[in-house]
Amino acid sequence: MNQYRVLFVCLGNICRSPVADGLMRHRAADAGLAVEVESAGTGDWHIGDPPQHGSQMVAVKNGFDIANLRARKVEAEDFFDFTHIVAMDSANFADVERLQPEGSTAELLLLNKGEEDENVLDPYGMDDDAFETMFDQIDGGIARLLARLRR
Ligand code: 4NP
Repeated sequence: MNQYRVLFVCLGNICRSPVADGLMRHRAADAGLAVEVESAGTGDWHIGDPPQHGSQMVAVKNGFDIANLRARKVEAEDFFDFTHIVAMDSANFADVERLQPEGSTAELLLLNKGEEDENVLDPYGMDDDAFETMFDQIDGGIARLLARLRR
């Protein structure tokens, strides 16, 4: 089992967390860091759905592919299976805290905690520019997360 197992969490698991998932795999591979990565949502509306078109577009533009990902919901086991659960915004973080079962071993993080844009923009229903902004925010957060894991 990998030393690090990271679960990215947003609301629907079709816009933000699939991009964080794919980008983390992409960056970790480049950095030679062995890490297992998944993503999930706190809501159940989109279970089984692929990432939104805008998310797939920014992924391809930046050299990785998330077309095969399918949305799932956060499960109680995730709090034991993953070493880190990383929320995209403060509402997702509060939801994850609320879902955390007794004895949970995962470390809960807010991806861009303390940054100017602490909450990754939710681009659901927005235009391509919003997905580009979302990508840039996730990119910064993943760089900081990788630095933290490599310390
Ligand atoms: P995500 O975006 O949490 O980044 O996947 C959303 C996806 C779906 C909804 C809201 C946000 N929704 O209300 O269905």
